[in-house]
Amino acid sequence: MADRLDRQGVGMDRRQFIKAVSAAGLGMALGTTGIHAQMARARKRYAIVGTGARHAMYRDAILGQYKQYAQLVGLCDLNPGRAELSRRICKEAGEDVPTFRHTDFVQMIQQTKPDVVIVTTVDATHDQYIVAALENGCDVITEKPLTTTAQKCQRILDARKRTGRKVRVTFNYRYSPPRTQVKEILSSGQIGQVLSVDFHWLLNTHHGADYFRRWHSNKASSGGLMVHKASHHFDLVNWWLSAIPVSVFATGKRDFYSPDMARRMGLSGPHERCSTCPEKDRCGFFFDLSASPNLKALYLDQEHHDGYFRDQCVFRPEIDIEDIMNVIVQYDNGATLSYTLNAFNAWEGYMIAFNGTKGRLEHSIVEQIYVSGTQTIQGGIASGGVSTRIIPLRGPAQEIEPWAGVGSHGGGDKLLLDDIFLPEPPVDKYLRAADERGGAWAALVGIAANICFKTGQPVRLQDLVHGLGRPDYPAMPSKDEPVPMPTRSNMG
Ligand SMILES: NC(=O)c1ccc[n+]([C@@H]2O[C@H](COP(=O)([O-])OP(=O)(O)OC[C@H]3O[C@@H](n4cnc5c(N)ncnc54)[C@H](O)[C@@H]3O)[C@@H](O)[C@H]2O)c1
Repeated sequence: MADRLDRQGVGMDRRQFIKAVSAAGLGMALGTTGIHAQMARARKRYAIVGTGARHAMYRDAILGQYKQYAQLVGLCDLNPGRAELSRRICKEAGEDVPTFRHTDFVQMIQQTKPDVVIVTTVDATHDQYIVAALENGCDVITEKPLTTTAQKCQRILDARKRTGRKVRVTFNYRYSPPRTQVKEILSSGQIGQVLSVDFHWLLNTHHGADYFRRWHSNKASSGGLMVHKASHHFDLVNWWLSAIPVSVFATGKRDFYSPDMARRMGLSGPHERCSTCPEKDRCGFFFDLSASPNLKALYLDQEHHDGYFRDQCVFRPEIDIEDIMNVIVQYDNGATLSYTLNAFNAWEGYMIAFNGTKGRLEHSIVEQIYVSGTQTIQGGIASGGVSTRIIPLRGPAQEIEPWAGVGSHGGGDKLLLDDIFLPEPPVDKYLRAADERGGAWAALVGIAANICFKTGQPVRLQDLVHGLGRPDYPAMPSKDEPVPMPTRSNMG
């Protein structure tokens, strides 16, 4: 009988397979291992909405390394040219994947019957696809940020509860080995209970400037860098501390990517876009879409469909996101975070320090130069760019050999993909897989910061949404633990 199912399992979709096993009462006969082997053969069906730069990681994973477990059944985008480009790549890999307009998203689900929808659209549109996918019987994997406003966040939380389906937010930063190592050190109790965190994230004038060229420069589309970019960082701190943010105070301004700065740098002023810029020869921020085959194919060749320019001037007056942001967050475990994000820096990466009852953990990463859609590696770590050290309250600092990985986001993307696409991923003691609760807490810190920018008043997160539970986080040193008296030092 198992043999018959073996043969039948191949090509059968996952829903059909589970139905068949239950109907035949075969669970007992096959045993757990047998069922899992069968389920692996019944490939999980995925559809992707949003066929821009980021979706390629998921598409290529499904078509390549995980193809025995996963099948791509549909592609959807507002821009039919980008969807078609992706369809052709699927075809070259031997998969015939139909494409759908964004207005036919529900039709795509009904026709192609995905188990899971992967959402890789512009940030402000995530909610509409997450909710529609859940309501049409699918689980969801969404890129960060979960969403961009409190109202949209509430819609997602309500739909998740109403439908009982699953939402996963792909916080790949958690999977980067040196950052997982930080979690390991913190939960081991080596620096005791963390009372405060100092965190500075720097974007350089390659990657940082690129946010000011794209849809990210419009707050209604991205939530600004507080939501689009910093939700990664707020999620890291939430997860590192295993704590929930309670209140946020923030200031933000745009002083660098501005019309005034264009003039101070010797230009006559801002222009519309690089490809038609009359001062392109004199501008250090000139960005040539036609120089990169991938950027040309993804954006330049597709702009007649939707009018989206990927090379807008970084000094445009209509930009409404900040390039300098300072944020203070209070956590439910008593810890405080002091965070800055700066988008025009001399290098890219971050410095963080955790101040604990037994000592201090300092950790920093210098990243390589990266621009989305080019051959550069996103989140690639510069050679020798990781530093992690523990400094006891009294005594010498101890340098820690960093955990290493290979590929984008310091090796984090590969581990994330294993966790998503393997039918039985390794048990993860760090609980790196985030659901909508982790996604919401991270996005809400940025959303609250945006509110502060306008009102100048602190924001309590419990006033933004209701019914948001605590994510599953690993245990951390308790605040009731005794703290060893520091060794007395002879200052004489
Ligand atoms: N985790 C990470 O490290 C990481 C890295 C890059 C991007 N991202 C996230 O991935 C998502 C996509 O970013 P990207 O860099 O691919 O951007 P992109 O501009 O290259 O692609 C976005 C795609 O969404 C499509 N789109 C826009 N509005 C739409 C709508 N209403 N309906 C359907 N499709 C629509 C666009 O046509 C485009 O094809 C974003 O949410 C971004 O935050 C995450």
